[in-house]
Amino acid sequence: MADLRVKIGALTLQNPVLTASGTFGTGEELADFIDLNKLGAVVVKGVTLLPREGNPMPRIAECAGGMLNAIGLQNPGIDRFISEKTPFFEKFKVPFLVNISGYQPAEYGELAKRLEAVPSVAGIEVNVSCPNVRYSKGAVFAKDPRAVGLITRLVKKNTKKTVIIKLSPEVSDIKIIAKAAEDNGADALSLINTISGMAIDINTRRPKIKNIMGGLSGPAIKPVGIRCVWQVYNTVKIPLIGMGGIMNVSDAIEYLLAGATAVAVGTGNFINPAATLEIIDGLNRYMKSNKIKNIKELTGKIIL
Ligand SMILES: Cc1cc2nc3c(=O)[nH]c(=O)nc-3n(C[C@H](O)[C@H](O)[C@H](O)COP(=O)(O)O)c2cc1C
Repeated sequence: MADLRVKIGALTLQNPVLTASGTFGTGEELADFIDLNKLGAVVVKGVTLLPREGNPMPRIAECAGGMLNAIGLQNPGIDRFISEKTPFFEKFKVPFLVNISGYQPAEYGELAKRLEAVPSVAGIEVNVSCPNVRYSKGAVFAKDPRAVGLITRLVKKNTKKTVIIKLSPEVSDIKIIAKAAEDNGADALSLINTISGMAIDINTRRPKIKNIMGGLSGPAIKPVGIRCVWQVYNTVKIPLIGMGGIMNVSDAIEYLLAGATAVAVGTGNFINPAATLEIIDGLNRYMKSNKIKNIKELTGKIIL
């Protein structure tokens, strides 16, 4: 068998295939269909300090090559999340990573502090890049290297767990944002989050999403994700988790060649709940037929 193990911060994952936040719940809904213990890690839906109902419906719409969503971070708030959702994680040997969002930089620090006390949480993915949420004073943290640096510092100060900062492609230079996260202590980066989009029903003339705009995900954004991973791989030394439109093993290998150490599957789970497991099998087959012993031999190995 090929060696699929990868290191993300302090974590050694048995393989490089993760779930993308918000597309897999807490794993509970899918545990009846797939063996979660076969995954590299489970990244759960975003959580905030206080409970959120999310945006009004309709909040998802299919479109060519993907979907728009404006869920708006619906979640029960960190206290109920910890008491009701995290006991489920204890049943598995696979690491569970919790995705956090805040409206003020200080909230991220507080969320990290609360999660630090939960042993079944292996790491924290920090969402500074949700396109569907208005942060305080209209700030979009992901666009501002100082805000990303500050949030990274606040999270790192409050936890010893692995910290992954999740970046947006909607910036003029993603390299600057990635560097700010690395310089302030990020253990790894996730990229990319969704890209703002819009769709209109021509019969009702209304936006297909009540929020008007939503985040575009799925195959349509894969070239953007590959480009971002490539640019950031050539800028920072910390590992990258590539995502955006990964539906099958070829997509995953493309991300690895561009510079990703691991990959995450989002929208692909909605079409095929076993997509992650099929990608792991596909990686084993690809490595065997190409005589690759260690998955690390693929990261960044694009031939120019
Ligand atoms: C329905 C939905 C909900 C999402 N919720 C979150 C979230 O809570 N936090 C987050 O960081 N990203 C969230 N995302 C973004 C995904 O994790 C991922 O970055 C993005 O969808 C690109 O990957 P994909 O094309 O494979 O879906 C969500 C995406 C979708 C489609």
